[in-house]
Amino acid sequence: MNSQRMPMIAGNWKMHMTAAAGLEYLHTLESSLSAQDAVEVALFPAFTSIYPLCQVAKRVRLGAQNMYTEAEGAFTGEVSAPMLRELVDLVLVGHSERRHIFGEDDDLLNRKTERALEYDLQPVLCVGETLEERDAGATLERITAQLTRGLAGIDKQAAQKIIVAYEPVWAIGTGRTATPEQAQEVHAAIRSMLAGKVSDPARIRILYGGSVKPENSLDLLSQPDIDGALVGGASLRVEPFSAIIQSAIRLNPA
Ligand code: PGA
Repeated sequence: MNSQRMPMIAGNWKMHMTAAAGLEYLHTLESSLSAQDAVEVALFPAFTSIYPLCQVAKRVRLGAQNMYTEAEGAFTGEVSAPMLRELVDLVLVGHSERRHIFGEDDDLLNRKTERALEYDLQPVLCVGETLEERDAGATLERITAQLTRGLAGIDKQAAQKIIVAYEPVWAIGTGRTATPEQAQEVHAAIRSMLAGKVSDPARIRILYGGSVKPENSLDLLSQPDIDGALVGGASLRVEPFSAIIQSAIRLNPA
């Protein structure tokens, strides 16, 4: 971490947690956090939980796990940026499950990123290589393509609002984490790749995701270009998620 960037610990609940369970979780989490802690805490619940959670969240920032490219229209089952913006100001774009299970490609994600920014939602643009790409030595090539296409045509000033999440596909939900050094290498490379795409790469937050848990969070977050974590499995219970938040607080005392 680096003191010029506020660390963010974000929980991606994926398709878990009813609204009732989410409310109970949020209540416990909020009571464990202090307003003074120099860490931003965010949760990405399912669409159906966003509204009830928004009614009670004070310290925790909420976001959506996905959105559609168009602002409105005949797109049954989709949710748009202006609809989300009534409730939240953060949205995940291009999570690896969206890319791999739902076939979302960089061009579609480019339109989502652009639309999110247009409606003043802060996109968390997720990038990451597959195991085959890593084994073939194509990690940085893949991520360069994801960032270049994902941010194509977007003005540098507007793009400055994004957060990037680096999530190696082989580390998501597998229990297999990138080593802190492996992650740092890619994070530093991402920061360099952002030159020319955003106005000030040094101020962009780059989160690491992929089997982050209390046992590895301190080492990962100690790396200079890792500005936080996007946590899946370990965010489903308050206790491990809080422990990860505590790692960030330890490294970035107020
Ligand atoms: P995981 O998921 O922490 O369960 O690996 C991370 C993510 O998908 O964002």
